[in-house]
Amino acid sequence: MLAVESIVDLRREIALLRRQGKRIAFVPTMGNLHAGHLKLAQIARQHADAVVASIYVNPLQFGPKEDLAAYPRTPEQDKKGLEAEKTDILFMPTDAEMYPRGLDVMTKVEVPALGDILCGQFRPGHFRGVTTVVNRLFNLVQPDVAVFGKKDYQQLMLIKLMVADLGLPIEIVGVDTVREADGLAMSSRNNYLSPAERQTAPKLYATLGRLRDRILKEGAVRPGMEADTARELETAGFRPDYISIRRAADLAEAGPQDKALVILAAAWLGRTRLIDNLEVSVQI
Ligand code: PAJ
Repeated sequence: MLAVESIVDLRREIALLRRQGKRIAFVPTMGNLHAGHLKLAQIARQHADAVVASIYVNPLQFGPKEDLAAYPRTPEQDKKGLEAEKTDILFMPTDAEMYPRGLDVMTKVEVPALGDILCGQFRPGHFRGVTTVVNRLFNLVQPDVAVFGKKDYQQLMLIKLMVADLGLPIEIVGVDTVREADGLAMSSRNNYLSPAERQTAPKLYATLGRLRDRILKEGAVRPGMEADTARELETAGFRPDYISIRRAADLAEAGPQDKALVILAAAWLGRTRLIDNLEVSVQI
C-alpha cells in the first residue's frame, strides 16, 4: 500500500491505475479504523480492481463544541489494518491540502432539507461539512464506486442524493453495520465510554430491536411508539436526541400505511453521543 499526503502524489498514482485500465473503489474515513471500516475496504475490493482509502478528520463537519481536537488518531494502526485488506492507496491529506483557502471561504456543498433533520437538527452544519469534504475527495480520487456504512444511514442517503444532484458518475454502495458481539455498533466514539457506560451502550440497539418487534406485531407504525421508546432509553440511562421511525426511501416521518421503514436514534451516554438504526420491513 502506498500512503500519500499530497494531491499531486494522489493524482499521479490514480493516473497510473487508470492507465492500467483499473476500476477504482474509494473508502473515505476519519481514521481510528475498526472492523466496520475494514469491512468497507473488503466490500470495496469486491467492486473494483483497486481500492483507495482516505483518512482525514474533517474539521468542517465538527461543531464548535464537538470533539475535533479529542477525535482519536491512530495512523500506524490504521495503515496496518488497511494493508491487511489489500488497500492500494491511502490518502492522508493535511488541512492545507484539503482546505487551501481556509474553512470559512471554501465553496460548500449542501443537500437542503434531508441535511437539516434528525442528526442535522442536533448538529447544525454537520452534513454540509460531510457533503463538502466527500465531494472534494470524490473530485480528487475520481472513483468508479464509493463505499459507505449504513451505520450512518442519513449520511449514506445524503451522499446518494448529492451524487445524483451533481451528476457525479460514481456508484454508491452501502454496507451493513458491523457490531460488537453484544450488539453495539462499532464506532470510534465507543472509545470515549467509561466501563459502566460501555455496559449500558448495547441497550441502544436492543431497544431499537424491541421497537421493531412492536411494529411488526402491530403490523404498522402507531402514534406513541417513539415516545415510549424514548422513555425506555431514558430509563436505561441514555439522554436521547431523537428516536424516530422513518420511511426508508426518503426519511420522511412514517405513518401507518408505510411498509419499508428505518428506525433511527441518537442518544447520549454521559459525554458520548451514540447513533444507531434498524431497517424494518412490515409484511403486507
Ligand atoms: P467515519 O466515522 O470514520 O466512517 C467512515 C465510514 O465507515 C462511513 O461510511 C461509516 O458509515 C462507516 N462505518 C463506521 N462505523 C461502521 C460500522 N460499525 N459498520 C459499518 N460501517 C461503519 O463517516 C465518516 O467517517 C465521515 O463523515 C466521512 C464520510 C469520512 C467524511 O468525513
